[in-house]
This record gives sequence, structure tokens and C-alpha cells, in this order.
Amino acid sequence: MLTQPTSHLVSPAAGTLENAGRTYRKKLSDLVGLYADEAAFDAAAALDGDRIVYQVQDRAPAQSKGDLIFGITQMQPGRIGDEYFLTRGHIHATGNRPEIYYGEAGQGLMLMESPEGETRIIEIQPRVMCYVPPFWIHRAINVGQDALVMTFMYPSDSGQDYGVIAQTSGMRSHIVENAGHWKEIPNAAYRPRTAAQIQAIYDSGDSQ
Ligand SMILES: [Fe+2]
Repeated sequence: MLTQPTSHLVSPAAGTLENAGRTYRKKLSDLVGLYADEAAFDAAAALDGDRIVYQVQDRAPAQSKGDLIFGITQMQPGRIGDEYFLTRGHIHATGNRPEIYYGEAGQGLMLMESPEGETRIIEIQPRVMCYVPPFWIHRAINVGQDALVMTFMYPSDSGQDYGVIAQTSGMRSHIVENAGHWKEIPNAAYRPRTAAQIQAIYDSGDSQ
């Protein structure tokens, strides 16, 4: 049976996708452990832990290999200490699956880290398409004053592995505000992956 074609109006201002299948939201209190300034996080969470910091709407027509999952994410602006609001971040569980992000509203960054611990940053603004290649850990960061809205798509059989970031006590870099602009600084707690951990990531890709 053929899947039927569908149409989905994107609303950059509202950060919504028409006819999305699922919506999920992350509260500030869900993001414990991600920020460098734990005292600032605890204070913010105590005051406003139920605040929604990002929302994702997506549509997954089928789980079959070769299909796509696509959707929209809306991230609120803000900081914990001097560190901008961010998404939890992940690598695809099937590691050789890529992803596309497309800027709809606001100003953001895609922070990426290779298994060996190199970082790359792509600046995202409306009409900028960002390609996240296979095997790169990725996290979005809102460095603007307004909501950051991006549409995205990735292969249906990608999966998400969040533990890859906990493995190294966070991503290698933090993105902080400095004199009105963003700045990349090292994560002092970062522990590089062992050769075995790096190999396990590459082994998670299915054969080409
Ligand atoms: Fe992803």
C-alpha cells in the first residue's frame, strides 16, 4: 500500500508545522546536568523549572529504511549563567545517518563534535541550510534574542543516542555570551573518548 503524499505549512513565527504527528516539549528542569554553571541552573530550575525551553513537532510516516522523519523545532531564547539555552544533543544510534536543519526564524548555532573530539560550528539564520554529516554529535543553541525556529529531516532509521554526550561529561565546548556575542570555550570537565569508544561509534553505522 502506497503512503499518501502530504502537505505541511511551516509557520516560522509560531514555530509550528501543520499536520505534524507528534509534539513534545522539554522543560528547563529536564535539562539538568547540561550546563557548566550548576548553581545558576539550580537557581533557575527552582524558580522556573516548568518553563518550556524547546518544543519539537515531527511527522514519521513510516519506520521503514529509506523513509524520512521531518519536523520543526522552536527553542526559546535565554541563558543559564552566561551559557545560551541548548538542546540535549545526540548522535544517531545508527551512526552513519545524516540530518538537515533549515533556519526559519531567529539566530542559532549547530554545535557538532566528531567521535575524536573535534568541534565544528555552523551559524543558522533564516534560509540557511545546515548539513550534519554522518557520525557527528549535534546540538542546537539559541544565541539570539528571539525564538530560534528550524525545520529538519533525517532518515527514519537514524535513532538517537543521548548517552554519547554523558560519556565525555558533556560536549567538548560550551557556547557562552561574551560582550553581546557568542563565544566557544572549552568544557573543563570533558574527558576524551577512548579508542574503544570511538570505534564503537564507527561500528554503529551499518555497512555502506
Ligand atoms: Fe539528530
